[in-house]
Amino acid sequence: MKKLLTIILALSAVIVALACGSNDPEVDGTTGATEVNGGEGEGTAKGKMLVIYFSRAGENWQVGVVERGNTAIMVDYIQDLADVDVFEIVPEVAYPQGYEDTKTVATAEFNDNARPAIKTDITNIADYGTVFIGGPIWWGRPPMLFRTFFEKHPELDGKTIIPFGTHGGSGVSSYTSLLKEYFPNATILESLGISGASIRDSSSKGTVENWLKRLGVDKQSTAISNVRTRAATNGVSYSISGIRSGNQLGIQIRDGQKYINRR
Ligand SMILES: Cc1cc2nc3c(=O)[nH]c(=O)nc-3n(C[C@H](O)[C@H](O)[C@H](O)COP(=O)(O)O)c2cc1C
Repeated sequence: MKKLLTIILALSAVIVALACGSNDPEVDGTTGATEVNGGEGEGTAKGKMLVIYFSRAGENWQVGVVERGNTAIMVDYIQDLADVDVFEIVPEVAYPQGYEDTKTVATAEFNDNARPAIKTDITNIADYGTVFIGGPIWWGRPPMLFRTFFEKHPELDGKTIIPFGTHGGSGVSSYTSLLKEYFPNATILESLGISGASIRDSSSKGTVENWLKRLGVDKQSTAISNVRTRAATNGVSYSISGIRSGNQLGIQIRDGQKYINRR
């Protein structure tokens, strides 16, 4: 009888232990955790970011002869302030050094509805969720080179696109219009145009920074949102000394993953 009682007690202890175990989330959040935003290949809230641009060095409107084009300077600021990869659209036939000569070539390209050839191509646009696209304004519009590029890259449709560029007074809204024409399913965000004549002024970098912050794509903003998000129910926290502190609701970052603990 005593032996039978011992067996029953031992079995009860095992049952209780098993039951408790299944309710007890592990410290790394894997037990009871539901993945919200972290499927295969998804590392960031907005996805990886890419800048695609064209810019012409040489003699230009109001800035004289420059070694680096105005839009290229704007790209330098973006690259400094946001976590981006950069692709430059390089024409197969370089535009002339002279401003007047470039105007002649650009006029002919518009009149002929030309598709100037591009020297280099990019094959992994699919890897990016957000794409900045920008350049100069030529005769009130993006150079025809952009049409060549857009026609080669239908995969830009559906992306989040941020237009930008430099100009001599026209603004860059024509980039937004052309992008909408080519990529009706893209989400086109707020653009930024800066006058080419003032792009080298120290205040211009601040203008770029404020714009990136407004869009939530500057380095500081993406540092948090890039952390993988997992939702964990019944999350438990432990102090550094290992003492369990019970369920903690809210956001925690552990081992490079962001957990949202909720009931
Ligand atoms: C052929 C040509 C046409 C231009 N047409 C315009 C224009 O219509 N409106 C405008 O605001 N600026 C115009 N500009 C000025 C450029 O948009 C401006 O200088 C820009 O910053 C150049 O950028 P980049 O150095 O990156 O090529 C033109 C420049 C060139 C070379």
